Amino acid sequence: MGQVIVDVQNLFKRYGAITAVDRVSFQVDRGEIFGILGPNGAGKTTTLEMIEGLRVPDGGTAVVDGIDVRRDPRGVRARIGVQLQEAAFFDRLTVEETLQLFGSYQRTMVAPETVIDRLQLQDKRRSWVMNLSGGQRQRLSIAVALINDPRIVFLDEPTTGLDPQARRNLWEVIASFRGEGRTVVLTTHYMEEAQRLCDRVAIMDHGRIVALDTPRTLIRTHAPRTTVALTVLEGEVGYASLPGVRHVEVANGEVVLSSTDPMQTVYALMESSRAGQIGFHQLRVEDATLEDVFLHLTGRRLRE
Ligand SMILES: Nc1ncnc2c1ncn2[C@@H]1O[C@H](COP(=O)(O)OP(=O)(O)OP(=O)(O)O)[C@@H](O)[C@H]1O
Ligand SMILES: [Mg+2]
Repeated sequence: MGQVIVDVQNLFKRYGAITAVDRVSFQVDRGEIFGILGPNGAGKTTTLEMIEGLRVPDGGTAVVDGIDVRRDPRGVRARIGVQLQEAAFFDRLTVEETLQLFGSYQRTMVAPETVIDRLQLQDKRRSWVMNLSGGQRQRLSIAVALINDPRIVFLDEPTTGLDPQARRNLWEVIASFRGEGRTVVLTTHYMEEAQRLCDRVAIMDHGRIVALDTPRTLIRTHAPRTTVALTVLEGEVGYASLPGVRHVEVANGEVVLSSTDPMQTVYALMESSRAGQIGFHQLRVEDATLEDVFLHLTGRRLRE
């Protein structure tokens, strides 16, 4: 185990009748990329903003780099970088001026150039914020989070609204924080983002953490089946009795098998094909994803 840098115990927050965050506890190790994955309204932003000292919890504690956020919210804010889900910038400031402004609120500040280069905003240095594209604005908000050279970076849905290429580019930037000894806590509702980028993931639903582990362990524990799908041209076999097969479904012209032993399932299918019992093409083998884990734990899909 590494050194704990964020320690959250029983965080609790209510808005009237709604319990937004319901006794959430977790610890983040130094240097880790920690993800909170959950659907809209799960309580991700509320959790993050209580840790950041931006919202006051109704109960529980959050200790960041040894500082209890309720005792010393300013002390916490000096050590962290924050990207808000809905950052408010001034339309008629340039990218460079925006970074200067946010940096001026901080005790320490790196040169705006550094973070402009880092987020590939060089061409937009002198553009007004109002003239940035959604993706450029998103990158600016991450640049702002880095302006005080923080040891811990909190990112609230850093890639929402980006196209797949821009999203991958940002994943590279965020992954590179690891090598600098920074710790990242991010929220996302993209299962692929959580799976590819995060060392550990807390799955959140209705204000609670329903599972927390490495993506690989979450999948192995909660969704151990692999999908074996084939487009059958002719013939038929008793799919349910093939080795490893636990579930059979026909969807979009494919026979979709859930298997606990995909190697054996595929081998048996090949044998049936060789014996002339079935003819198929496009055999597809897919591991379960965090989407399947979420489905298993909540009975719902992440993306409705
Ligand atoms: N300031 C507020 N006043 C009243 N209710 C709020 C407030 N902020 C959040 N909520 C409610 O608390 C719950 C959790 O909201 P939160 O913004 O933390 O979810 P989230 O996981 O960040 O969702 P999203 O993916 O949409 O950003 C929701 O039901 C939301 O409507
Ligand atoms: Mg949110």
